[in-house]
Amino acid sequence: MTQLRGDGTDCYEPIERASLDELRSLQLDRLRATLRHAYANVSHYTQAFDQAGVHPDDLTALQDLSNFPFLVKDDLRRNYPFGMFAVPREQLVRLHASSGTTGQPTVVGYTRNDIDTWATVMARSLYAAGARPGDIAHVAYGYGLFTGGLGAHYGAEKLGCTVVPMSGGQTEKQVQLINDFKPRVILVTPSYCLNLIDEMERQGLDPRQCSLEIGVFGAEPWTDAMRSEIEARLAIDAVDIYGLSEVIGPGVAQECVETKDGPTIWEDHFYPEIIDPDTGQVLPDGEEGELVFTSLTKEAFPVIRYRTRDLTRLLPGTARTMRRMAKVTGRSDDMLIIRGVNVFPSQVEAEIFKVVGLTPHYLLQVGTEGHLKTLTVKVEHAPDAERSTTDTLAAELAHHIKSNIGITAAVDVVPPESVPRSQGKAQRVQAL
Ligand code: DLL
Repeated sequence: MTQLRGDGTDCYEPIERASLDELRSLQLDRLRATLRHAYANVSHYTQAFDQAGVHPDDLTALQDLSNFPFLVKDDLRRNYPFGMFAVPREQLVRLHASSGTTGQPTVVGYTRNDIDTWATVMARSLYAAGARPGDIAHVAYGYGLFTGGLGAHYGAEKLGCTVVPMSGGQTEKQVQLINDFKPRVILVTPSYCLNLIDEMERQGLDPRQCSLEIGVFGAEPWTDAMRSEIEARLAIDAVDIYGLSEVIGPGVAQECVETKDGPTIWEDHFYPEIIDPDTGQVLPDGEEGELVFTSLTKEAFPVIRYRTRDLTRLLPGTARTMRRMAKVTGRSDDMLIIRGVNVFPSQVEAEIFKVVGLTPHYLLQVGTEGHLKTLTVKVEHAPDAERSTTDTLAAELAHHIKSNIGITAAVDVVPPESVPRSQGKAQRVQAL
């Protein structure tokens, strides 16, 4: 397991431990510059600010940001593909795009300075995760339009790691390269990491004996129970990395390995707010709501009050001065409403982990009965669980779900390999 100096100075950049006063004053300067830049160069912001009757000069304190209008995914769609850029297209050195579930992809762009900012926050994230210059870093996030692979790649190179740009998929080859190259760090979605562990076991390897010491897991919600499972099976420190393409990509927030208490938001680059998703009112720190970000240093694609739809809370800093976010419980658009009860896939995942004999390979199937939604949890039993016990396992999980979440779910316990495996972000919900 990772050994850190723990003398209070161990971080990538001094700003991570600056005083709150210094941080807030830097944020204010950067916020004013960003508002001016967006208002002057992106017609969407000019119109939206004018319509709301606000001007960048009106902002004299950080709290004044709440007077400015939100940016939502539909605004980005309306301005597809290049309408949100604040610099001439020729100054962009990179585009990324997120596919989204419906219609047009969301396009984001970066200037050379933006790429450098991104590499820096990713290097900072990897350092906070416990990675060090000289480590071999195996990147199994997808390369391509998705920000995961290239974001991780540039950050790991900047930190001084030897990067293995494996991308997602080719599970057998992933295991072979981990075995041969002996990386200390792996960057991968937690659901795909489970596949890698299963594959190691299938090949007769002991995952606990492999060279990996640190896993940097994100791009999808995962529970603390999943962390314990991965840490136990792979003998590593598993830490959470958060980000989204609209804000920059991975590296918006990173959990520090010495505390493992939720990702620290790199607040000198990304200013967070939590709002009530129904009223849009800003909520005090500690209260759960929708996370909203304003970029503070981006040139090509500044975002002002972007509604992420991710539900979480802002928490005080611990390992760093900057605030943390609680683990994301889910996205507001992933929320299922089963007979009036709001349910997130991560809640069901937490119950699955309580049942010995079940595995975290699961799918939530949502059907309709008349006007009501029904939930079936399809979940694999462990290879060594007796077939005759599947009824007992199903009854046990149904009982946990009923008593802890408050809904009645059908449980379908299925043999190993029956649930489709994730190659990147896991799809947890299926409409029947
Ligand atoms: O998933 C960027 C990323 C890549 C983050 C690799 C971390 C590691 P998008 O494809 O734009 O970008 O998806 C962003 O994924 O709004 C969340 O809903 C979800 N998400 C990302 N990280 C986490 C996390 C990348 N650590 C969307 N926990 C976000 C929970 C996460 N959800």
